[in-house]
Amino acid sequence: MEKTSVEGVRKSSFEELTGIKDAKHLERFRVKYLGRNGVLTAILRSLKDLPLAERRTLGPAANSLRNELEKRIKEKLSEFSSVSAGDFFDASRPGKKVKIGHPHPLAVVEREMREIFESLGFATVDGPEIETDYYNFDALNIPPDHPARDMWDTFWLKEPKNSKAKFLLRTHTSPMQVRFMESHQPPFQIIVPGRVFRYEATDVSHEINFYQLEGLMVGKGVSLANFKAVIEEFFKRFFNKPADFRYRPSYFPFVEPGLEVDIKLKTENKWLEVMGAGMVHPRVFEAAGYNPRELTGFAFGMGVDRLAMIKYKIPDIRLFYAGDLRLTTQFK
Ligand code: DAH
Repeated sequence: MEKTSVEGVRKSSFEELTGIKDAKHLERFRVKYLGRNGVLTAILRSLKDLPLAERRTLGPAANSLRNELEKRIKEKLSEFSSVSAGDFFDASRPGKKVKIGHPHPLAVVEREMREIFESLGFATVDGPEIETDYYNFDALNIPPDHPARDMWDTFWLKEPKNSKAKFLLRTHTSPMQVRFMESHQPPFQIIVPGRVFRYEATDVSHEINFYQLEGLMVGKGVSLANFKAVIEEFFKRFFNKPADFRYRPSYFPFVEPGLEVDIKLKTENKWLEVMGAGMVHPRVFEAAGYNPRELTGFAFGMGVDRLAMIKYKIPDIRLFYAGDLRLTTQFK
């Protein structure tokens, strides 16, 4: 074998290499020259059978060609990979789907409710989830040992040392009625959306925590007629459907008279109980420091979860708290 054969391989391999445009062909090229049966490998392997003089010239030439080819292959490969990694931008490629968050259905419904009431002139106020038994019960005309306390299964909290007050997780949003009246003068109309807690077994319509929206309007001459007007307007807008209403007498210690409101959507044809309400009890006004002879007011409380279940046909209240994204992603 002659030195020219190494030169020939050099020339043809370099030429071939410049035409290579992708990694797959580059690998094929590497195998062809440097693989186990490659052209250059064969030359290197044949060296040992050559006379010493030839070996002396051919050996270094073949070795340096091998090193050079290895180096060039490496360079070329990094060219390919750096192109595909970032430099190349294919504007026609479909974009990656971006995952965005969704508000919880209860947040959606609470916002809808709040917007309707605010447009009717109600202000939104917030109250504490940890309450004292005074605001949750006594101030609402439910003294200790009154059987009406059994209407609300309560999570009692451990009493702090030297505390006269008993603490609990509020069982309803009604305690904000007295808290608000203590520091404000009528006339006013407010709503109190918020989380409440009940110590009870869960099923499709009961949870140990859920959301309520309380309403309170107080002034001179506020009547049940005002209540009906507000509430029917609210439900008409909330469900966006024609509906019939039914007012049934009921009992809540903090109102007199007390009532429950049922609604029948024209599309559903069945009565659904949607809220408790009534005229604020004189004792509640007294607890707040108001003179019950000068003022009247109506109060109401409804379940946010319940309205969400009716509006969006959600069959089980526990779905709201299960953290399953298949529910939340359906809401915007
Ligand atoms: N707080 C009552 C409950 O949780 C609901 C309620 C009834 C609120 C009558 C009121 C009301 O303001 O007047 O069951």
